[in-house]
Amino acid sequence: MNKVLVTGGAGYIGSHTAVSLIEAGIDPIIYDNLCNSDLEAIKRIGQITGKQPVFVEGDIRDKAKIEQTMSAYNIGSVIHFAGLKAVGESLEKPLEYYDNNVHGTMCIIEAMGKCGIKTLVFSSSANVYGDPASVPVKENFPRSASNPYGQSKLMVEDILADISRSDAEWRIARLRYFNPFGAHPSGLIGEDPKGVPSNLGPYVAQVAAGKLKELQVFGGDYPTRDGTGVRDFIHIMDLAEGHLAALAHIAANSGLLTVNLGTGTGYSVLELVDAFKSATGRDVPYRIVERRPADIAESYADPSLAHKLTNWRATRSLGDMCRDFWRWQEMNPNGYRNAKAA
Ligand code: NAD
Ligand code: WQD
Repeated sequence: MNKVLVTGGAGYIGSHTAVSLIEAGIDPIIYDNLCNSDLEAIKRIGQITGKQPVFVEGDIRDKAKIEQTMSAYNIGSVIHFAGLKAVGESLEKPLEYYDNNVHGTMCIIEAMGKCGIKTLVFSSSANVYGDPASVPVKENFPRSASNPYGQSKLMVEDILADISRSDAEWRIARLRYFNPFGAHPSGLIGEDPKGVPSNLGPYVAQVAAGKLKELQVFGGDYPTRDGTGVRDFIHIMDLAEGHLAALAHIAANSGLLTVNLGTGTGYSVLELVDAFKSATGRDVPYRIVERRPADIAESYADPSLAHKLTNWRATRSLGDMCRDFWRWQEMNPNGYRNAKAA
């Protein structure tokens, strides 16, 4: 299992996981088409760890290239992050989402089958719970999707369950991430959205940095503590480490592992804004506006199953997330673009 193919490894979650893998003595082979990332992230992984990972530029739908990469590097397992992730965009471009996320994943699985690789960690999402009837959210809650992005995750989850049922030798983890936030404490890698961010974390950071004028808080009339939405923000390094724990679990146990990766604590949008202000000493002006269509009031995980099965739990605080995000923001005001060697 020492060589792991990391699809989407130049992206936000993949790059942080690559650092954790290298630090654990596991070699990631990063495979990414760079459609939402930058080669600079790969260099920075090398800078943090002292070990430059192998990078292959390619699309997951290019089956020949995937197969060739798997055999050339003697891959033992795959962590599959590659995909498109913007909920709003998925409503405008559903076919692109199904093609990348569902067809793309099928290409990976087929290539794995041909190369005799049967160990796979898949990036699912809390989005598969739709609007949960209660919180904290447990893995056995009903799943639903209200957008093509969420639907693509549901479809892949089902495909993986079928594969696991059809062949007991497969070792598959379906990891349902809650809201990743923060950056590596070095400030060298972090979340680098193209254009104006749609997720809360990078938006707040860019307001604090003065790049954006004010945060629009979507909805102040939810049935929550302060009327704003509540989410389970999880430090990106905790999330990264969850992949190593899942990989170790499936290396020891065949079958299907399905777990939430969250902290178990929900914070409201305004609580996050306050935490960011205290951690950074910067102001974050905001204005409460209309709810964003299709947003839910409250979502946070019950992460106890992941702890029970894989011995993983999130340890970093909301303050850590804010401080680390801010370090990345200050050191890289334009993300990886026009990056000087940091
Ligand atoms: P990201 O966009 O930063 O990273 C995804 C990477 O995949 C990018 O580097 C992109 O260039 C690459 N990619 C996309 N399509 C590809 C293709 N066809 N071939 C090769 N490479 C391709 O996103 P992220 O936040 O790191 O998310 C990683 C995974 O986790 C995604 O599957 C996403 O759906 C899932 N996820 C993310 C979140 C979140 O809030 N960030 C939450 C839950 C689940
Ligand atoms: C968080 C909260 C907003 C921006 C999405 C996907 C989910 C997962 C993570 C992929 C909400 C509020 C936001 C802003 C705001 N991704 N907000 N002003 O919607 O929980 O989850 O990303 O799998 O699937 O749906 O994350 O960061 O967009 O929003 O008030 O400018 O912040 O209303 O309450 P969300 P988010």
